[in-house]
Amino acid sequence: MQTTKRISPAKVIAGSLSLPGDKSISHRYALIGAIAEGDTSIANYSTGADCHSTLGCVRALGIEVEGAGTEFVIHGKGLDGLRPPAGDLDAGNSGSTIRMLSGILAGQPFASRIFGDESLSRRPMQRVMKPLAQMGARIEARDGQFPPLRIAGSRLHAIDYTLPVPSAQVKTCVLLAGLYADGSTSVTEPIRSRDHTEIALREFGADIAVERQKITIAGRPRLAGRKLVVPSDLSSAAFFLVAGLLVPGSHLSIHGVGLNPTRSALLDFLAGMGARIRVPNLESQNGELIGDLEVEYSELRGGTIDGGLTAALIDEIPVLAVLGAATEKGLTVRDAGELRIKETDRIRTVVDNLRLMGVQAEELPDGMVIPGRQQFHAARLDSSGDHRIAMAFAVAALRADGESTIEGADAASVSFPEFWDTLARCTG
Ligand code: S3P
Repeated sequence: MQTTKRISPAKVIAGSLSLPGDKSISHRYALIGAIAEGDTSIANYSTGADCHSTLGCVRALGIEVEGAGTEFVIHGKGLDGLRPPAGDLDAGNSGSTIRMLSGILAGQPFASRIFGDESLSRRPMQRVMKPLAQMGARIEARDGQFPPLRIAGSRLHAIDYTLPVPSAQVKTCVLLAGLYADGSTSVTEPIRSRDHTEIALREFGADIAVERQKITIAGRPRLAGRKLVVPSDLSSAAFFLVAGLLVPGSHLSIHGVGLNPTRSALLDFLAGMGARIRVPNLESQNGELIGDLEVEYSELRGGTIDGGLTAALIDEIPVLAVLGAATEKGLTVRDAGELRIKETDRIRTVVDNLRLMGVQAEELPDGMVIPGRQQFHAARLDSSGDHRIAMAFAVAALRADGESTIEGADAASVSFPEFWDTLARCTG
């Protein structure tokens, strides 16, 4: 069901927020919990539909999952405890679910099929099929590259794989397959991507070594169920950080946010442009850094996102593009071809929606150029079914000169179902 939201210009963004659990970490805790021995209890599990797709798949593979809301217990049965699913596994809109779970399915003694929604069915899967085939897995895809995937599980052997694209999902897929392989599997990444999998596997007791950009995991470990707490999602917090930076007079605090250094380039990038963001406290929980964030309206210089920074900010680029238009010198994004194969072609959907608001934006093959000092005009905007586009343009609408509408606003629930209520609560 498509819903439309009306967003009025905000006078101020203020308050103290707690946001739902990190999407990336939630997926990993659920998947690894399922193949660990004994119970894994997870607090602050993501409320997003994507992470519920992962829980649905885990259940369909014969693992009992108890709980509701944000608290779950996964009754893991060890590496060999999964059962053949009665039907096809549904990954919904979630690239993380299909790509990461494929690594586990490849090592099972049974065949499975995994599919997704229309958007996921257009996203490329060769990036996981290739290393898994090298490990001995047999995988078929529609037209050789798109979901559904049919995975005939087999005995896997260890490989030493260099990722052709910086992708934490692909890295995770190979590491999870490596749990089932004979010997030690290594993955080398061209640019360091989010390392939640490495941290989580270590927490569950895997034998994993990280040497610069090379990660090595020993096959057939004994993973033990654990008690885990998911930090709040920095990529969800990004929408509120940008809202606070955009609307004059704003002052906002956000509690318990995951600040893993492979994710927190966002804070350095914003601070480098002149953003007033404070982290009054920092602690470590289950190997992940967590802190509170305080943000105040700031006049920003603008900047460039390219190279390794693009990979580190990949999920935040839509909302940073919105912010760029309000900076002094604007924002340039390069090396972001990956954005074209996310839930939508995010270079296109960002540029189209900016233009609908009367904001100039130039589309590049691998990025965009958004001049600074621009005004946002009220407009009818469209998420194209992409959660991050819906939320990024709700933030843009806060700075417009009248009421805007966001079609397909329900898409936000893929990662952040509480987004609209949270936005209403802190908007004055
Ligand atoms: C994710 C990795 C990123 C990111 C996605 C979540 C993860 O994708 O865009 O939202 O949890 O590993 P890629 O690894 O494909 O870049």
